[in-house]
Amino acid sequence: MPLTLDPELRRALAARIRYYNEMGIYDFYRRPPSDREGAVPISVDEEEIAVSTNQPESGEEMGPRKAAAVAIQGDENIFDLIALKPEQSVSDPVKALKIIREDLGDCTRCVLHKQGRKQIVFGVGNPAAELMFVGEGPGADEDEKGEPFVGRAGQLLNNMIKAMGIEREQVYIANIVKCRPPGNRTPEREECATCSPFLMRQIAVIKPKVIVALGAVAAKTLLAMNASMMQLRGRFYDFRPAGVRVNDWSNDPRWDGCKLAVTYHPAFLLRDPRQKGEAWKDLQMVMKELGMKAPGKNAH
Ligand code: URA
Repeated sequence: MPLTLDPELRRALAARIRYYNEMGIYDFYRRPPSDREGAVPISVDEEEIAVSTNQPESGEEMGPRKAAAVAIQGDENIFDLIALKPEQSVSDPVKALKIIREDLGDCTRCVLHKQGRKQIVFGVGNPAAELMFVGEGPGADEDEKGEPFVGRAGQLLNNMIKAMGIEREQVYIANIVKCRPPGNRTPEREECATCSPFLMRQIAVIKPKVIVALGAVAAKTLLAMNASMMQLRGRFYDFRPAGVRVNDWSNDPRWDGCKLAVTYHPAFLLRDPRQKGEAWKDLQMVMKELGMKAPGKNAH
């Protein structure tokens, strides 16, 4: 049954659930009806959202995951709210991306914030792009400018995009991690895991038709699988952003995920230009999927 909660209430409940998540409480269960007698109806007033946590006995260590009982009267299902993000009550993708950026704030969630980053590199491009490119993480130039792919690898990415017959401004470009890893090292798994939920939310807002993962870090993080580039390339994957509900709660019920293709990272192609032909094959596969025609000659 479709839910009819007002957006303010949804946001309030989602914020409440995030608050519990931040305290280490992830698992919620619904009390059986007999326990729910006298439960209060849900309302924007926080006091009326009946959530009882399993508090530890005195002296007991708080485990990493605790459960909370949620008592709700009526047919509303709070479990549908758990994965609801604040931007999902907004239909304008520009505003929705702004909400995600605000949520990110001056992020200190992982160690990268204290390892010399100058600024957070959020993402750039068309907020309603059909095609999205995802790299690994900002380098020195990106850290300086606050925009992904503006250095040498960015120049090559721009040429790859041009070769497809489109402009950089038509696509959306982002990275798995939004802060520069020191010395351009590969981001750690923990850093990717901490940062990528924000990228997943960006993807759910942009609702692309195709995502191109640039390199192994992007591919493995987005697909949550461990495989070599050789195994990962050459096919499409069905992709849905992890941790974000798409379709039923989203303001575009027609978007139910997209295709994802993997190709070489432009920085790798700068080191080994002989692989450019292979990357071009990947991009041609993407163009076919999007019904695009390359202009006369490719520019890479
Ligand atoms: N490499 C990346 O993966 N991302 C950038 O933004 C720049 C270089």
